[in-house]
Amino acid sequence: MTGPRATAVLASGRGSNLEALLEAQRAGTLRHARITTVLANREGVRALEVARAHGVEALCVPHRGFPGDRPAHERAIVDCLKQRGIELLVLAGYDRLLAGPLLDAFPGAMINIHPSLLPAFPGLHAARQAVEYGVRVAGCTVHFVTAEMDAGPVILQRSVAVLPGDDEAALAARILAEEHRALPEALDLVAAGALRIEGRRVVPVRRLPLLLATGNSHKVGELAALLAGLPLELRTTREFPAFTEPEEDGGSYEENALLKARVWHERTGLWCLADDSGIEVDALGGRPGLHSARYAKTAEARNAKLLAELAGAPEARRGARFVCVAALVGPGVEHSARGTIEGRIAEQPRGAHGFGYDPIFVPSEFAPSHLAELPEELKNRVSHRARALDALRSALRAAVLGQLRER
Ligand code: GRF
Repeated sequence: MTGPRATAVLASGRGSNLEALLEAQRAGTLRHARITTVLANREGVRALEVARAHGVEALCVPHRGFPGDRPAHERAIVDCLKQRGIELLVLAGYDRLLAGPLLDAFPGAMINIHPSLLPAFPGLHAARQAVEYGVRVAGCTVHFVTAEMDAGPVILQRSVAVLPGDDEAALAARILAEEHRALPEALDLVAAGALRIEGRRVVPVRRLPLLLATGNSHKVGELAALLAGLPLELRTTREFPAFTEPEEDGGSYEENALLKARVWHERTGLWCLADDSGIEVDALGGRPGLHSARYAKTAEARNAKLLAELAGAPEARRGARFVCVAALVGPGVEHSARGTIEGRIAEQPRGAHGFGYDPIFVPSEFAPSHLAELPEELKNRVSHRARALDALRSALRAAVLGQLRER
C-alpha cells in the first residue's frame, strides 16, 4: 500500500469546503489523500488564511497576472503543482473556467464540488436556480472534472429537502452543510483507488458486504437511504431465517447495539451494522427509553400509551428526545456512535412518513411539524439515526477501503 496521495486544493474565496477537508485531515478521517498545498487565483481570499491556519502551504497565482491568456495562467499553476509532486487536485469553489493545461496535466485526477444535484442547475447560483425552479429536493454533487463545466462523471451526491419557506440563503446553507460531508468522503474514496470511471459512470472497484442487523423493514429502508454513496452491498437478516433476533438485554443503547452487531457478525462472518434507539420523555423520568420498542405491542398502541401517560401535561412538561446508538462490528473492529434529536411529545399523532414514535414527536428545529410529517430527505438528515450513522460513516469508509487493500 502506498502512502496518502499528495493533493492540492484550488480555491477562489471563502474556503469552507477546504476547511472541511483540512478538519478531516486533522481528525484523521481523510486517510488516503494528504493536502499539502492550497492554491488560490485571488490575493487575500479567506481560503489562503484557512490553509495557513492549518499549517498547509498557501500559494497564490493571480489570474490577473495573465490578462486574456487563461492557458498561460493554468500552465503557471501546473508548474507550481508539478514541482511539488501533486498527484490529485480538488476544485473547491475555484471560479475559473478551465482552459486545457490543468486537465491535460491531471487526467482523471481532478474533482470538483457543485451545490446542486447535477445535471440540474450547473453554473452559478445553483441554490437560487433550485428555489426559482421549485424543486422539492436539492443537494450537492462531487464529480470528476472534464472539459465541459459541471458535467463530469458523478462520484457522490447528497440530497437535502427544499422547504416551503426557503430562500436562496437558507437553501444554500443547508446544501453547504452536506458539501462539507460529501467532499472529504469523495476525496478519500478517489485517493484510495476505490472507484473506476466507466464511460459516464463512476463505479466502485469493490463493494463491502454489510449486514443490517435489524428485523424491522422500515428501519432497513431508512438505513439504506442513510448509507447511500458508500460502496456497500447491503444484506439483511431475512437472508438468514434459521436465526432469531438476539435478546436485547443490555443496560444501555450502546450495549444493545453492540450486542446485536456482535451476534450477527459471529453468526455470519459479515461486517454488521446494528442500532438501538429509544424515546426519552422528561415528564416520565426518561421512560420509555431503552424499553421503547417493547412499551406496547404495536406502534399505534405504543403511541396511544405514551399520549395517555402524558394526558393533560402542559407544554413545558412534554420535552423529549430520540436517541440512537449505531454500532459497527467487523473482524477485530468495533465502533459505536450516538445521535440525538430534541423535541416534545405532541397531543395527537400526525404525519404519514417515518415509523414508530415519529407521528407523536415534534422536533424543536421544525416545530410545529411532527417528525412523521417531514419529507424523507429532511428526516434522513436530522434524525437521531441519521446523526449516529453520520458519526459512523468514516469508520464504515475505513472498512470499505480496508477490504480493498486485502485483495
Ligand atoms: C461551494 O458551494 C461549492 O460547491 C462551489 O463553490 C462554493 C465554494 O464555497 N463550487 P467554499 O469556498 O468552499 O466555502
